[in-house]
Amino acid sequence: MGKKKLVVLTGAGMSAESGISTFRDSGGLWEKYNVEDVASIEGWHRNPALVQEFYNARRKQLVTVQPNDGHRALAALEQDYDVRIITQNVDNLHERAGSTQVLHLHGELMKVRSTRDESRIYELTPDHCEITMESRDEYGDTMRPHIVFFGEAVPMIEPAIELTEQADIYVVIGTSLNVYPAAGLLHYVRRGTPIYLIDPQPVNAPAGMNIHFIAKGATQGVAELIELLKK
Ligand code: APR
Repeated sequence: MGKKKLVVLTGAGMSAESGISTFRDSGGLWEKYNVEDVASIEGWHRNPALVQEFYNARRKQLVTVQPNDGHRALAALEQDYDVRIITQNVDNLHERAGSTQVLHLHGELMKVRSTRDESRIYELTPDHCEITMESRDEYGDTMRPHIVFFGEAVPMIEPAIELTEQADIYVVIGTSLNVYPAAGLLHYVRRGTPIYLIDPQPVNAPAGMNIHFIAKGATQGVAELIELLKK
């Protein structure tokens, strides 16, 4: 028999114990920055230099932090399960922890792309992780963060829905479920599929679903999940 498909939807709380701020907790990023200015398509058109500066700062922080034990435990679960991660996070901590199947719904911080041809995507390195409006790619074009800005379509939502529909076990970690379409994914979980939700705070999950809440941070929460899966 093949391995069971364990689909995990992660949000900012997954990386909180690595030292990356969440967005909506107190002290979160959206208290310090105006989301419309730095992370929306209108903001990008208004002041692209400010948007570049914001993502440069995020990258400079990302290269200094490490995956946490929660990321690592999810990667290790690949031994026993067909683990598919759907992440709203733009960091690369799942990959750096060893997860091999990671779908990024909101883009990837360490990538940029041509503003003229969106199929030209470039991977940045820890040593060269900043771009400005003066930077040019090999075709002489400006580049933008490979990020889904607010106000833009979410192209990866279709494959994420498909994965969600195929799940034998569904796990949600560290997301306030405020941002759509990601927050709507739970509606695609097949009836009867066990759902686990790991978050130290109560989360507004859709009513009427049989969700097993694990009220812990990601690291401890994933450890508890693994114990529960063994039973
Ligand atoms: N472990 C697990 N969860 C945690 C931890 C932790 N150590 N610390 C905080 N959390 C939880 C919070 O309780 C909250 O429910 O993580 C969640 C973070 O929620 P948000 O800050 O809203 O982040 P997220 O849901 O990922 O945001 C979705 O919004 O701004 C955008 O594009 C951005 O992808 C992001 C999207």
